[in-house]
Amino acid sequence: MHRFERFEMEHMMSKWENVVQYNLSESGVHPVAVRELLPDPAMVEGLLATELNYPQANGPVELRENIAALYPGATPDNVLVTVGAAEANFITLQTLLDPGDEIVVMLPNYMQIWGLAYNFGFQRKAFHLREERGWKPDLNELNELVTPRTKMIAVCNPNNPTGYILTEAEMDAIVAAAERVGAWLLADEVYSGAEQYTDTQTPSFWGRYDKVLAMNGLSKAYGLPGLRTGWVVGPAQTVDDIWRRHEYTTLTITMLAGKLATIALSPQVRPQLIQRTRAYIRRGFGILDGWLESHGDLFQRVPPQAAAIAFVRYNFDLNSTQLVDRLKHEKSVLVVPGDQFGLDHHLRISFGPPPDYLRAGLERIDELIVELMS
Ligand SMILES: Cc1ncc(COP(=O)(O)O)c(C=O)c1O
Repeated sequence: MHRFERFEMEHMMSKWENVVQYNLSESGVHPVAVRELLPDPAMVEGLLATELNYPQANGPVELRENIAALYPGATPDNVLVTVGAAEANFITLQTLLDPGDEIVVMLPNYMQIWGLAYNFGFQRKAFHLREERGWKPDLNELNELVTPRTKMIAVCNPNNPTGYILTEAEMDAIVAAAERVGAWLLADEVYSGAEQYTDTQTPSFWGRYDKVLAMNGLSKAYGLPGLRTGWVVGPAQTVDDIWRRHEYTTLTITMLAGKLATIALSPQVRPQLIQRTRAYIRRGFGILDGWLESHGDLFQRVPPQAAAIAFVRYNFDLNSTQLVDRLKHEKSVLVVPGDQFGLDHHLRISFGPPPDYLRAGLERIDELIVELMS
């Protein structure tokens, strides 16, 4: 067995996000308070009366009903509730692929699947989103890479770190590539609902092909990362197989998470949370984009269509990890270096925090830029 590689980006964030004064590394928006989920005293009382038992291990029925309602044709049997989308990704890969199997992954990406594929001993291939084409996917590359040896194609839509949203035609082409060879299609859709320019939610891959696993969770579009609640939606038998791994890993989410997640995804509350997220994203990107523009041609960016992050190219000669190290140590600001995504001379900068905090963090980055330019 080869060395188990660390998830570098998460490791760096875990080490630094609670140490720096300004954390601009998160990809979601400022988190929701429990109080906002329980606006009326009777709801608070209901939560306080909760007995802290084990909840239903594959997810409380009402929660799975609320999730299934978001995916046309799905029932609660198509849903497994997990500890974050992180667990959903982990145990789904572990269930469906064996060491030596080939996986084709969209890059850049939240690097969990890429890293796990290495750690599980899969053969990794990458197809790319191309910056020079506004981060559109290179579908020719995808089609060349996918062969009968391909067991799974993994995409992230909307994409982390670029915020790119696939068009319907691009989704069809990715489905067609998977269908041509009978591969699984794993779609990480955690930023669906966190759109910048439209109030139409990014559609799921679910229902477009019979071998789709749609991953999601409450951390990003709903502003509830601390609930540690995610899910996978897939064919009922496959979801049952994935549940086998859930039994060996985390068993279940917590009782309180189950209750609060059920409230968050109820038809009354869910639209309010999505609206809140979009308000943060739209206000925050206005601030970040104004700041980028004020630096002339020092920065270049393709406007992110979703998520609370911009993946920005900078035009000065300093390695991105070194730049981020200086920001951490000298200015107490955390952003993610492009190196984490294999793209030096880029920074992933969050615009999800409240406006004053965001402006103050950007001012700190300015201080270092002035020093670097002088
Ligand atoms: C694309 C993507 N998938 C999954 C995760 C993990 O999310 P969760 O908090 O639901 O485990 C993240 C977190 O940043 C992410 O960006």
